[in-house]
Amino acid sequence: MATSILSSTNIQNISENALDDNTMFIPTMLANKPTIPKQFFWPKSDTAPATGILDAPIIDLQGILTGDASSIEKQVDALRVTCKTHGFFLVVNHGIDTNILNETLDHAAEFFTMPLETKLNIVQKKGSMSGYSGAHSERFSDKLPWKECLSFKSGGSIEEFMGSSLGKEFEPMGLVYQKYSEAMKKLTLSIMQLLGLSLDVGKDYYREFFQDCGYIMRCNYYPRCPEPELTQGTGAHSDTVALTILQQEEVEGLEVFTGGAWQSILPVPGSLVVNIGDTFMAMTNDIYKSCVHRAVVNRHSSRRSIAFFVIPRDNKVIRAHDSLIGPNGKRLYPDFTWSELEEFTQKYHRVDENTLKCFAQRLRLLGSSSSE
Ligand code: OGA
Ligand code: NI
Repeated sequence: MATSILSSTNIQNISENALDDNTMFIPTMLANKPTIPKQFFWPKSDTAPATGILDAPIIDLQGILTGDASSIEKQVDALRVTCKTHGFFLVVNHGIDTNILNETLDHAAEFFTMPLETKLNIVQKKGSMSGYSGAHSERFSDKLPWKECLSFKSGGSIEEFMGSSLGKEFEPMGLVYQKYSEAMKKLTLSIMQLLGLSLDVGKDYYREFFQDCGYIMRCNYYPRCPEPELTQGTGAHSDTVALTILQQEEVEGLEVFTGGAWQSILPVPGSLVVNIGDTFMAMTNDIYKSCVHRAVVNRHSSRRSIAFFVIPRDNKVIRAHDSLIGPNGKRLYPDFTWSELEEFTQKYHRVDENTLKCFAQRLRLLGSSSSE
């Protein structure tokens, strides 16, 4: 059984088949060609268009930020309903300065439209979660996503990383990303309070758990695409992290698979999109849902999004609160840590809609073989 998971095509994709000259697969350099290379093709079953618009609730954070109990209750109720259904919602009155939001998007545009040679100076190295990646072609050879990314993992100064990789003149850009990540971390803790209230485990339970959390911040750039119906910007997946806070610019592209159909989340200026990830779903014993989503691309304009992925500190044990199991209930996941899940996605499984299920299966197998 263990070998059937280990020999899945996902693993071969990750370890063996990355493209040799991956500089040929840079979407910004292919945007003006009439067609796209076949390595960007996705199966027809993956590219079915969205058929509706998701009615994602808008959660007003004013109450939790100011401590106004009467307005918190309404938000908590709305949050509970959406998290039990698909886990996607928008937040407004989040307290984040619009200048920080806009400047971060502007700097992302500036970065991704620079010459490839410059971007390669900060290229993501094997085993690292920080740096530039073009279509992930250094890791995969098929179903390439039509996007370029710049990622930063918590644990060091983004300003210094940008400066030392690209030159001192990039430090101000790094500082903008750094400030964005700090603002998002603060916002995370407010959202965690609402989530705690909504699950009746107390306002501070998740806030404390995530007090010293880490993050991966990822700027996504989806250039215009000559054949958008054949490819994906980000293919169907659920986020493996605890929580994602996404800023999307005013170009449609984010879609969620719920109610048996792909549904768009339209951009609402000034709002941020939040969704529950696999790790938080496991922490609630599946009461809250981490839902499959994707980003599609289009013929007419590029699109930027900034994803802030919240992760527990590497060694924190992820385990559902006893009150969420119920008296006769069953724990759906073995205990795990973020480092174990991250290693799984780096070595064994290309992130997709089945990541958590396959990871839990592997944990159980490893657990049963070690206790034999
Ligand atoms: C992601 C993601 C959606 C988007 O980065 O995990 O789902 O709209 N992005 O960029
Ligand atoms: Ni995602």
